[in-house]
Amino acid sequence: MKKIFYILITFVLTAFSMSSLANSEGEAMYNALGCASCHGENGRSKDESIPSLAGNDVDWIVQQLEYFQSGERQNAYMNAMAPMAEGFEQSIAEYLAIQDPQK
Ligand code: HEC
Repeated sequence: MKKIFYILITFVLTAFSMSSLANSEGEAMYNALGCASCHGENGRSKDESIPSLAGNDVDWIVQQLEYFQSGERQNAYMNAMAPMAEGFEQSIAEYLAIQDPQK
């Protein structure tokens, strides 16, 4: 019984640290790749010609990045930027989705 308890605790803690790691990874990549320089701090753009990303749906953000990567969606900036997010689409999207679009 004790052993099962320890296994469960380990599992919960691992899952918890993995999910918070995913968010900090997304945040780190969003800033490191320079996304913030256009889309604003925490995904809130201050430039009318650049869309805000905060509070968007995770799957939708991932999908847009894939469209920019494949060229299905055309934009000179994003066709250059999206390939750099390769492998981090999901964590960046998860980070942006939980940002408050209003602040
Ligand atoms: C040089 C400025 C610039 C940089 C850097 C940049 N973007 Fe963009 N991004 C844009 C512009 C402009 C658009 C709007 C494109 C359009 O009109 O189709 C856009 C669109 C998007 C969209 C779709 C939003 C929508 O409302 O349709 C996503 C998602 C996105 N960018 C994510 C990112 C991520 C993630 C990064 C970092 C890897 C990044 N962008 C870096 C300028 C930039």
